[in-house]
Amino acid sequence: MTPSTSGAALPLSVPLPVVPHAATSAATSAAGAARAPDVDVTPVVTCEREPSAAILGTYARAPITLVRGDGAELIDIEGRRYLDFTSGIAVNALGYGDPGLREAMHAAVDAGLVHASNLFHTRAAAALAEWLVNHSFADRVFFCNSGAEANEGAFKFARRWARDRGGPAKHEIIGVRGSFHGRLFASLGTTDRPGYRQPFRPLAGGAYVVERDLDELEGVLAAETAAAVIVEPVQGEGGVRVLDPGFLRELRALTRERDIALIFDEVQCGLGRTGWLFAYERSGVEPDLLTLAKPLAGGLPMGAVLLSAEIAGAIRPGDHGTTFGGGPFVAAVARYVVERLADPALLAAVRAHGDWMQESLLAIADRCGTVRGIRGAGLMWGIDVRAPASAVIGRARELGLLLLSAGDHTLRLLPPLTITREALARGLAILEDALA
Ligand SMILES: Cc1ncc(COP(=O)(O)O)c(C=O)c1O
Repeated sequence: MTPSTSGAALPLSVPLPVVPHAATSAATSAAGAARAPDVDVTPVVTCEREPSAAILGTYARAPITLVRGDGAELIDIEGRRYLDFTSGIAVNALGYGDPGLREAMHAAVDAGLVHASNLFHTRAAAALAEWLVNHSFADRVFFCNSGAEANEGAFKFARRWARDRGGPAKHEIIGVRGSFHGRLFASLGTTDRPGYRQPFRPLAGGAYVVERDLDELEGVLAAETAAAVIVEPVQGEGGVRVLDPGFLRELRALTRERDIALIFDEVQCGLGRTGWLFAYERSGVEPDLLTLAKPLAGGLPMGAVLLSAEIAGAIRPGDHGTTFGGGPFVAAVARYVVERLADPALLAAVRAHGDWMQESLLAIADRCGTVRGIRGAGLMWGIDVRAPASAVIGRARELGLLLLSAGDHTLRLLPPLTITREALARGLAILEDALA
């Protein structure tokens, strides 16, 4: 299929509001704004076809400029439509232009309190925290602004708790092979991406990666020195690997026996992505801490750490903080999003899509002969391919489908959770063409 050009014509240059220079604006108020001041009306930024050199090059961006979304589709500046199997890297679970989400955002802004600081209580943050506590293993919630920040917070909470129990030596935070926990110094320390780590060493002390193997963990996790282990129940960036429930159960038993906190990073796999509200529910294993972010606030930046009563009991005012975390605007929007993502009908649909995706991807693998393996659950799938993943992603984009990678030879599919079966089938047909 070729990308449709039937989208409404979009302007190539979007007029931006003119911001008067500080000097002229001060002069205007001094003069009582009797007449419009002479201001430079040249927009500071124009929306061009070409990428802007003003943005720091930390990402290898695809050569398209997105201007709009519609359901499970994105529309670029040329009016081309793309079926989106990326969801803004697992953020846009409700797709694009969701009327309920739009209404929740309007209602949140109409409340007139976008930010209040964490020096005061707000109803929105309290309601969201209570909802999360009522729907999970947790007793307390800490709000922040991103996935990496949630993990860094979880590490601090675990360390505080562990030090109280075992003294200063009990400080290590252990990640496992294939993990991705973020790009800050401690979260990077537990992330298995040598290329991301190497240029920034030394990373935070006491944060390591070990093999994803129970024998290895038995040896490494010493009760005297280990504060926490962190794992993603479904590893995302590391190739979409669903961790075996038996592995999680054994890890739970080992960490309990040695008084080590177990952290589940559900930044990518949580909040409905696997067909369960929390991915840990698939295995029946409960952690001591759990981190969330990506889809939590419908595209607004938000992270959260969920804590058991025991870990929370070790935390005192001043131990951790963040200016923006859990602000009333973002929390009110998140309260709407979590309700939608917990809808049993949505979760059942994601599980059913997951079964269908498995069958369909296996059939594609059989037909095309360029696929070496598939893995996943719900609407989170990894496909090992012979060709470089970037080449397949580029071909799919030309054909109107947006895909992600999870390693040099692994494609990753993360469609919006509200996608229809028809749209999924359309996407897989494009994928098969791109794999041929
Ligand atoms: C499992 C997991 N943890 C943490 C992060 C980091 O989140 P953020 O990019 O919001 O810092 C990611 C991001 O992809 C992730 O997939």
